Amino acid sequence: MNKIIYLDAAASYQKPESVIRAEVDFLSNKYANSGRGICRLATDVDSMVLGARQVAAEFIGAQTESQIVFTAGTTDGFNKIAHMLRLGANQTVVVSDLDHHSARLPFVMSGANVVVAPLDDELNFDLNNVPYADVFVITAMSNVIGVQQDVAKIIDAAKQKNPNVITVVDAAQSVVHSEIDVEKLGCDFLCFSAHKIGGDTGLGIMYIKNPDLYKPVVFGGGMVNRIMDNQILFNSAPEVYEAGTLPLTQIAGLVPAIKNIKANRPDLDLIKYMYDEIEKIDRVHIISKRDSSVLSFVVDDMHVLDFGALIGAYGVCVRVGNMCASWIHQYLNIAGSIRISVGAYNSLDEVKQAIEYIKEILK
Ligand SMILES: Cc1ncc(COP(=O)(O)O)c(C=O)c1O
Repeated sequence: MNKIIYLDAAASYQKPESVIRAEVDFLSNKYANSGRGICRLATDVDSMVLGARQVAAEFIGAQTESQIVFTAGTTDGFNKIAHMLRLGANQTVVVSDLDHHSARLPFVMSGANVVVAPLDDELNFDLNNVPYADVFVITAMSNVIGVQQDVAKIIDAAKQKNPNVITVVDAAQSVVHSEIDVEKLGCDFLCFSAHKIGGDTGLGIMYIKNPDLYKPVVFGGGMVNRIMDNQILFNSAPEVYEAGTLPLTQIAGLVPAIKNIKANRPDLDLIKYMYDEIEKIDRVHIISKRDSSVLSFVVDDMHVLDFGALIGAYGVCVRVGNMCASWIHQYLNIAGSIRISVGAYNSLDEVKQAIEYIKEILK
């Protein structure tokens, strides 16, 4: 059996040892619920949750930890935001064809008027033609094209059309490759998932610039301060947005995940190396750019699922299909694509071996 070569970090990142150790230690030695108990084990978990919130706040340049809401992931964050904004048909939500389904569908389903922002020839937001928006959804880095958008400039352009626009950033991919500073971006909301930076599944971060502006949309334990007769007094942010028990094991892994990704970003020279080699293969058409965070392509006369199965038989894991990003594929007039992405754990040898297998399949 061939050794597994995992080239699918953009779908989910392999976990560093430090994350696994922190989670095992939490489960083995430190486990209790948070926000409920008064015994030492429970108050230590409260401190762990607060510490993780502070590290997450610092990671994205938030001013206070009350702006950091733990969610189940980017998808959960976007669904919550779409509900929190209580949109109707008379409000315009601008989206783009770079969007992941998670970033656009919650707003489509909200019943708001959805307008698609035009892209330029380089598949970036066309800054000269930014439409009027009440809410502007910005995919900071497409999971198919892998190019960092100039989020600050897009927000400036959106504000010129409407100074009160609410801006919502999908940082699920961009957070892996570049530093984020929400203060500099000036966004109202930003979401990402822990599993894409080497943390665990089931945990996301939703940044809210003005956490006291919005009403909660999920109700239950942990978010209520007091109930007297018919009067309900909610906790303040962030707890008010976190009804129910938090994903504590995943939160235990968040701090080492953040430390790890800050110190070891994926080496995108590996993507450039693959780009240069794969570009030489006649049947291949690359749809991403040489300096993208991912390498995406299609192959003449071969369905992407067939490619995925054939390369998979060699032990190489890549992503094939529409990547939950139907719109960019429609825009490019293709049904799906093949995506290669790397984590800091991937080596040049692995990449070279994968290229050999690809050549073998396509010869
Ligand atoms: C750009 C982008 N947005 C949103 C998501 C959704 O993330 P999750 O499935 O962790 O909620 C992904 C995941 O692939 C993504 O790449």
